[in-house]
Amino acid sequence: PTFAKKIAGAPKAELHIHIEGSLEPELIFKLAKRNGVKLAYDSIEALRAAYAFTDLQSFLDIYYAGATVLLTEEDFYEMTAAYVERALADHVVHAEIFFDPQTHTERGVSIATAVAGIERALAVAERRGLTSRLILCFLRHLSEEDALTTFEAALPVFDEYAHRLVGVGLDSSERGHPPSKFERVFAKARARGLKTVAHAGEEGPPSYVYEALDLLEVDRIDHGVRSIEDPALVARLAETRVPLTVCPLSNLKLRVFDDMKQHTLKTLLSHGVAVTINSDDPAYFGGYVNANYLSAAEALDLTDAEVHTILRNGFEASFVPADERAASI
Ligand code: HPA
Ligand code: ZN
Repeated sequence: PTFAKKIAGAPKAELHIHIEGSLEPELIFKLAKRNGVKLAYDSIEALRAAYAFTDLQSFLDIYYAGATVLLTEEDFYEMTAAYVERALADHVVHAEIFFDPQTHTERGVSIATAVAGIERALAVAERRGLTSRLILCFLRHLSEEDALTTFEAALPVFDEYAHRLVGVGLDSSERGHPPSKFERVFAKARARGLKTVAHAGEEGPPSYVYEALDLLEVDRIDHGVRSIEDPALVARLAETRVPLTVCPLSNLKLRVFDDMKQHTLKTLLSHGVAVTINSDDPAYFGGYVNANYLSAAEALDLTDAEVHTILRNGFEASFVPADERAASI
């Protein structure tokens, strides 16, 4: 098979996917109608046309608006079931999936409702060869008090879904909201034995990556592409093998890089950093995980060996040991 076909058909682990970012416009409209939620766009085409982002915030505004259609357990089930189909089509065999509870609790939708719907779809997926875990993300534009309240409210859910819900993360508007703001809530999560990740070095500076490592003691960095600006940080990431969950199409759409050819993932990889490739918010950024691999491979002339290393990094960086996953490479 051609190089592209080989990449597309290879088993993959996906470690950076916001489930709310998998809501396709068609499903947004279907759920809006079912739930009587008013949208700011009067057609699927008009909504899709608004997906012309200039930076992270311009995306987040539309992403949070899209999530307002999610009200019932069934909504979360349908959203997740749709992602599962896309993931299986791309030969994803293991996924570690983010969700944003504060986006939903603010609208009166409980964490238990969201997780019950997501779990129902993931349990079905497991029988079809897709293992998965769930990671609860705190919204960094809100206060640490709010994150602490969310964490306390989630404790029974962490207990009930211990087989699935294994970690916490940090997402939303990065600039002006450094990891240091969330030191206490991350310490509580670690004390409970949860895994921890944080978005850092997407739009924010390398100092935010250092904070995520030193203050939040994260197991992985989400994005982390701006680490390249600090050679000592690149050396540390390579030495410690703390993985980066890189999302090429996201970085392009949110103008972290003006052109895919400028993406830093190949250079990071060449320095020995554990780079992985993921889709972030595939319904908004123009492609699921295979499209991300193919876009990066083409623009950066990735070799067969480089792609293989990235694929393997995905499995090695996962929170699930090889014998508990559906498959590996
Ligand atoms: N960055 C920060 N917050 C997010 C993202 C992202 O890429 N996607 C969804 N929430
Ligand atoms: Zn993300």
